[in-house]
Amino acid sequence: MSTLAAVVLCAGKGTRMKSDTAFGKAKVLHEVLGRPLCAYPIARAFAVGASPVVAVVGHQAEQVQATVSQLFEGQPLRFAVQAEQKGTGHAVQCAGDALRGYSGPVLILYGDVPLLREETLQALVQAYRESGGPLALVTTLLDNPTGYGRVVREQGHVKRIVEHKDATPEERAIKECNAGIYVVDSAFLFDALGRLTPQNAQGELYLTDLVEQAAKVAGAKIKVVVADHAETAGVNDRAELAARAKELQARINARHMRNGVTLRDPSTTFIEETVELAPDVEVGPFVSLHGRTRIGSGVRIGQGCVITDSVILEGTDVKPYSILEDAEVGTGCAIGPFARLRPGTKLAEGVHLGNFVETKKARIGKGSKANHLSYLGDAEIGAGVNVGAGTITCNYDGVNKHQTTLEDGVFIGSDTQLVAPVTVGKGAYVGAGTTVTEDVPPMSLTLSRAPQVIKEGWVEKKAKKRAGT
Ligand code: UD1
Ligand code: CA
Repeated sequence: MSTLAAVVLCAGKGTRMKSDTAFGKAKVLHEVLGRPLCAYPIARAFAVGASPVVAVVGHQAEQVQATVSQLFEGQPLRFAVQAEQKGTGHAVQCAGDALRGYSGPVLILYGDVPLLREETLQALVQAYRESGGPLALVTTLLDNPTGYGRVVREQGHVKRIVEHKDATPEERAIKECNAGIYVVDSAFLFDALGRLTPQNAQGELYLTDLVEQAAKVAGAKIKVVVADHAETAGVNDRAELAARAKELQARINARHMRNGVTLRDPSTTFIEETVELAPDVEVGPFVSLHGRTRIGSGVRIGQGCVITDSVILEGTDVKPYSILEDAEVGTGCAIGPFARLRPGTKLAEGVHLGNFVETKKARIGKGSKANHLSYLGDAEIGAGVNVGAGTITCNYDGVNKHQTTLEDGVFIGSDTQLVAPVTVGKGAYVGAGTTVTEDVPPMSLTLSRAPQVIKEGWVEKKAKKRAGT
């Protein structure tokens, strides 16, 4: 039995995002450093061991659910639907069914708070356990607290939260604000939610009203973890979205630099939080690294590269403006500049792929080279193969894709077309400009060139003819 469950509120529309066109999306799907906003709190909930995590969806429920389930495939994630958004308390009520059978502490997070740290949630869970419940929360001190719920204390003890719109002038002067992050005992939670009423300025069921109920539980002393605003700040509009992204970028980049990664210009380096970099990786300016990318030590990533879901082993040099997606690159390879490695590319040790070389579903063996202007798709290429400039695998016949096989030690002359399916046997040579349509036997030479014709003095004769002499 799990000792912590979580509810993440993702049902709101996010009116201030102004995302109402046919291309519009719910606030929690707007991206921060390549991941939707709500992926951050959900990931943090899993990181502190919550199981299950219930995402409450409402606005654009299908899209939010589809995106989130894909991101957290295989994790104990559940969904609850809040069809009509009647407030944060109502949203948590909607998660009741998804948590049936669970009893214990419930971590509650809002889906629009991306900078939250795992350490703060651990401190909150710890504070909750020490207090004996039924509720602990995160607060934050703000010089300009307009809009936030204020934490009302009596003799130092937390008594209740009053929303900005309901607060008196004295209460509005309070600088301690509700960050919207709580741990609440499940039995107390669903009992207390049942007692909420919408008697407030917004006519909503406020989750925050639970604090007053908790403070009245006999002997309860509500514990608070005070966190920095840099961590609890939410996203309400696109300016805040960009600001949070900048903060997150700085935090992630600082972590990598502390761990021994060189970032030539951290302000233009975008590394998603899921990316792993070994010490002594060097990253040039304007580089983006996404998804499940893992990069080994000594790898250099040149300016302007975009690398997604790829693995690059030790000592490889990825020169500027190369694009890699779902590729595996061995040790000591040289890639680019301007190379494009598409999904299913697998390179062994010491492979060289130069400028304007595109690969897709291509497995390339040790030390093989394609240094200039090639397309290698659906290709099985052995070790020590030399692919000349301009070589193209003609892998598509308009209906199906076909395989090209180049065995070990093959030499492909420049400007060759390999019309798949086709195999060039071990050690064979293909002359420049050949259109290979039939399998080439090992150790042979293949040519498909029209013989060269030379006409001596042709230019002069032509000129005379034109002049009519
Ligand atoms: C809330 C808190 C406030 C706190 C602030 C911190 C309440 C009543 N107020 O205010 O005390 O200082 O957050 O950022 O909780 N949502 C739903 N369903 C709903 C309403 C909201 O899922 O019916 C979700 C939203 O998608 C969002 C989150 O809950 O992710 C917070 O809602 P929002 O309307 O932004 O609350 P605030 O007014 O910011
Ligand atoms: Ca908010």
